[in-house]
Formats: sequence, structure tokens, C-alpha cells
Amino acid sequence: MVNIAVLGFGVVGSGVVELMKSNHDKIAGSAAQEINVKYILDIMSFPDSPFADLFVDRFEVIENDPDVQIVVETIGGTKAAYDYTMRSLRAGKNVITSNKELVASFGHEILKLAKEKNLNFLFEASVGGGIPILRPINQCLAANEIKEIYGILNGTTNYILSRMIKNGSSFEESLKEARDKGYAEADPSADIQGKDTCRKICILSALSFGRHIFPEQVPTVGIEIVEAVDMAYAKSMGAKIKLVGRAVRTENGKVAVYVAPHLVLSDSLLANVEDVFNCIVVRGNAIGDTMFYGKGAGKLPTASAVVADIIDAAKHFHARKYIYWEAGGNSAVSDPELLENRWFLRAGITSKEAMELFGDIILIDDKNGFTVFSTGMINEKELKNRMTGRTIYACYRILE
Ligand code: HSE
Repeated sequence: MVNIAVLGFGVVGSGVVELMKSNHDKIAGSAAQEINVKYILDIMSFPDSPFADLFVDRFEVIENDPDVQIVVETIGGTKAAYDYTMRSLRAGKNVITSNKELVASFGHEILKLAKEKNLNFLFEASVGGGIPILRPINQCLAANEIKEIYGILNGTTNYILSRMIKNGSSFEESLKEARDKGYAEADPSADIQGKDTCRKICILSALSFGRHIFPEQVPTVGIEIVEAVDMAYAKSMGAKIKLVGRAVRTENGKVAVYVAPHLVLSDSLLANVEDVFNCIVVRGNAIGDTMFYGKGAGKLPTASAVVADIIDAAKHFHARKYIYWEAGGNSAVSDPELLENRWFLRAGITSKEAMELFGDIILIDDKNGFTVFSTGMINEKELKNRMTGRTIYACYRILE
């Protein structure tokens, strides 16, 4: 029998404990042994919970119990979560987490300690909720040189944008629904401002390209800049505005990573990804494009990924899964402003000026005191250069 301890009884932690109970026989069969939740750690008490007798309020109880082989961290943030993760590994316990902030900030350091201790540190649930993505990149696509990885990585913002477009709901109503459904972060500004997507693309980049990428190295713009007028222009083009995280291997062996809302055309792989769904496209040099799609947030989809890691860890005591990446630094990243795209622009210039500046444009509108148009392929630096001294109201990369 394997004993586990779950740290944090919020949306994900409670989902893990419930799934461990409801799917008990299936999980025991997959792990080829019984998996028992021995402790739940939380600062709150849950006297009415069916699991009330499992609660402890001191991490030391778990740390000092040699019968606990796997610690499941679902606290979130990087304070207690980091401390308890490192102490668990030092105490000889495998660690599973859904905490993308922890992995994006300290992944290399934690993986290094896990490697030294011959333990597993697994975090499938940290990206894409219930979508299997980290294991496929690490194992199934291991023969490929990954050239690019991009996707819709945040359920909350995709839910908000979908609801605003499809149902005509307001931003506030849509955000409230996303919070009620347990999709949003404790502080939803991390979703709205793109920080959550940033953490996830950092993890995908590190796993795909082999070096730690820190969130601070990733230019990040969230959906707070998206205006209704541009959503309407996008709709008139059969397109949608969606928040995308993207990482591209560049010629010098580095990786250009950024997060920004994109104008997604109807023939893009991401065009029909709506509501809480996420979609990740991985471009490998042997396989071409592969797409991973599913629920990117929510209690049970996320718990599904966490419990799969628990089963994997239980089956691989003393046989580390090979998940690792090297330390980060300035030499790991290149400037995403040098990545070329077609662009959607709404600017305070005339259509004649737009044509003079960008040549072969597609004109969308020039009757409202600004000009809306799309450009051919150009990098962001050059685009900004040409628009110097002119007003840009909206500017999105086009995903086709
Ligand atoms: N707040 C996150 C999201 C939760 O909306 O995608 C899942 O990581």
C-alpha cells in the first residue's frame, strides 16, 4: 500500500481526494496497489467533510511520517508550496504538484533536488488542466526536435472571451461565472493579465527546449487590452481574439517566448477552442503539428492529471521518470519582437498611409476616424519602427 498526503484542500486538492475515493478500484488497479490518502493539510478546518478525520494542521506530521511516500502539493503560490516541496523531497518523499507558479519559478531547482534524491517530482496538471501534454512532449515526442509550441493555455480568459462573443455577456458576468466554476485563480488578475498563461508557456518551453525559462523573461500582455470594437472587427473577418502563449526555437538555439492576445483566423487550429477548453499545438521536426485539446481548468479535470501522476509515482519508486531541464539565464532566450507575423492593426492613420507604410495591406475599415487593416509578414520591431510617431489603438499578431 502507498500512503499519500494532500497539501491544500481547495478546488484541486478536494478534487484529488474525491477522485481518489470515487475511482478507488480503478486507481488501485492502475497502480497495482492500494493508494491511501493518509493526511490532508490545510489551515482551515472542514468538520463536515467526509474526510474530516484525515486533516492535520502541521506539515511536520507529514514530513516526519516515514509511511508517507508521496506528497501532493495543491496549495498554490510559491511560499509554503516551495518550502513544503523542498522539505518533502529532502525527507525522501516523491512530490506531485498542480502548481504552475511553483514549477515556472523553481522548476530547475526542484528537479535538481529530486534527481539528487532519486525521487520523482511530477506536475502534469500544471499545464492544460486535464490535458495530457507534458508526458507526451517528454516521452511520445522525444524523438523530435521541437520547433515551436503554442496554444490557448488559460481556461478563465478563454471562457470570458467566448462568453462575451457568443452570448453577449459582459466581462464582469463572464469572470464571475469562471470564478463560480472554479476555473479562475485565487487572484484572477493572474488569469486576466496573462501571468497564468506565462507560467504555463515557461513550463512547456523548459520541457521542450531544455532550459529553465523564468516568467520575468517573457513579455506578457493579457486580455485587459482587448476592446469590444476589435472583437467586432475580428468577428466581421470570421476571426476571434484569443489569448495565446507561444515559444519558438530561434536560429541561434535560443527560444523566443511571449504571451499576447492574437487575432485567430477561422482556419487556425485554435479557432474553435471555446469556453474552458485549452489547446496546445506542438510542432516537431519529424511529426509536424500535433494538437492536444481538452478542459484546461476545473476541479475534476485537474484532479484527473494529478491522480495520474500519483499512480505513475507509485509505480516508479526508485526509478525516476526522466523529467529534467537545465538552469536558465539570459543566454536561453531571444527577442520575440524579431518573430515575423501578419498583423491586425487599428491605427490613427489613413488607408493611404497604411499602404505607404506596409505595402500590400488588406483594408478592413477606414470610415471611423482610424484605419483597420492587416499587414503581410513583418516582425514587431520593424512594425513599431514604421509606426513611430503614429497612434496604434490595437495591434495583434494574426494566427492562421
Ligand atoms: N486559472 C487557471 C485557468 C486554472 O483558468 O486556466 C488552471 O490552470
